[in-house]
This record gives sequence, structure tokens and C-alpha cells, in this order.
Amino acid sequence: MPSFSARLLTVALLLMPATVAAAQSSREDLSEADRARVEAVTRPATDFSRPEPFELMQGGAGTTKRVSDANALSHPGENLVFEDEQRFLVGNGLFRKDWVTAPSSTIASDGLGPLFNARACQACHIKDGRGHAPLEPEGNATSLLVRLSVEPDAGQRERIEKGLQPAAPHPVLGFQLQDNAAAGLNPEGRIRIDYSEELVELAGGEIVALRRRPGFR
Ligand code: HEC
Repeated sequence: MPSFSARLLTVALLLMPATVAAAQSSREDLSEADRARVEAVTRPATDFSRPEPFELMQGGAGTTKRVSDANALSHPGENLVFEDEQRFLVGNGLFRKDWVTAPSSTIASDGLGPLFNARACQACHIKDGRGHAPLEPEGNATSLLVRLSVEPDAGQRERIEKGLQPAAPHPVLGFQLQDNAAAGLNPEGRIRIDYSEELVELAGGEIVALRRRPGFR
């Protein structure tokens, strides 16, 4: 395994939005009557004795009416036309597909690697929801991404300031640690997270266990 001195920039925990953001029309496009209607519907609740109008349709016409189970985030928008639903299903199939390294008996889903993070989008975006940190220090870190960066040189600093690149990548490992590799090859590294667990009391009296990185106050 290569040694590297890259600074860990962030361990980005996966946070996918629960619903596909509804296309937002700018407020300026609204007529006075529309604006008044939107303001009436979105004003803060004052009466908690009964449901708010439209409370059951929080995604508008796209709100799914299917059962809210473990697949709750995986349904297509309710208002897709047939062709768009077909495209959703094809995309969802690709998203869930496990890719394999070449050569293999399939030529439809090979070409993975030689370095990679996961075999499928779904391995991280679990059921289209968020991922999780490893349950124990040496545990499975599949749904974490470890981003890497080094001290930027003058040119890189200028590009970062202009928003043209996020950081200065590690010269060998790039922006992202790839902790998996094809059979017989070494991955770029392995992820191990050290933490101690502390019990914290929330304002409502509930006790939760939070993790703290050693040396971090
Ligand atoms: C190794 C884990 C991993 C895999 C595999 C992965 N993702 Fe992600 N994805 C992430 C993480 C972590 C983020 C958030 C990154 C960040 O904010 O820096 C993310 C962000 C995204 C976002 C942006 C979401 C948003 O809220 O802005 C999209 C879209 C996305 N991924 C789609 C995909 C697709 C499509 C695939 C498969 C081709 C895929 N991802 C594979 C971990 C992964």
C-alpha cells in the first residue's frame, strides 16, 4: 500500500435529498393572485388541532402515494408521463447494477476498476437515501468518501479562489481515496476511523451517543 502525506479534507457523509427537487419557478413569474395563494399555503402553522391544507401533498403533484416503507425514497414522481417513467426505470436499473471487472462473462456491465470505491451507485446511495459511517472503527466504510487535498501552489490557489477547482488534489491519489481495487491489485489505501463515544443529553432530556474524534474538542 503506498504511503501518502495527503491531508484529509473532509469525510463527506452521504446526504441525498429525500425527494427530487421540484422545478422552481422564480417568484417574479407569479401573478399577484398566485403570489397571495402561495403565501397563504406556505405561511407558518398557527393551529395544530388539524392538518394544514395540502399537508399530505408536500411534493405537489409529484408526491408519491405509495406505501412508505424501506423503498420510500425510490419511487418515481407521481406526475411523470409514461415515457419519463420508462427513463426513470432504466436509470434506476443502472443505478442499482453491480459492475464487474473485465474480462468477465458479461460485456454489458464490466469495466470496473482497476481502482474503485464501490461496485454500484446504490452501494453508497443506499435505497436512494443517505449512507452511514462505519459502525465500528475497522468497519465497512463503503458509503463514505474520503476527499484528499494538499497545500495548493500559487496557480492552484488562484483557480480555487475563482471557484474553478475545489482544492489541490494529491499528485498521485487525486481528489478521492479509492479504497477498492480489482482482484490482485492494491487499493490506494484503507479507511479507518478512530472515535470515542460520549453520552449527551438533549434539551428534551433524551440521551444520545455522539462520536468524537480523538484530539478534537
Ligand atoms: C463511494 C460512494 C459513492 C458512490 C459509489 C456513488 N456516490 Fe454519489 N455521492 C456520494 C457522496 C459521499 C456524495 C456527496 C459528495 C459531496 O457532497 O462531496 C454523493 C453525491 C452524489 C450526488 C449529488 C447529490 C446532491 O445532493 O447534490 C449525485 C447526483 C450522486 N452522488 C449520484 C451518483 C451516481 C449516479 C452514482 C453512480 C454512478 C454515484 N453517485 C455513486 C457517494 C457515492
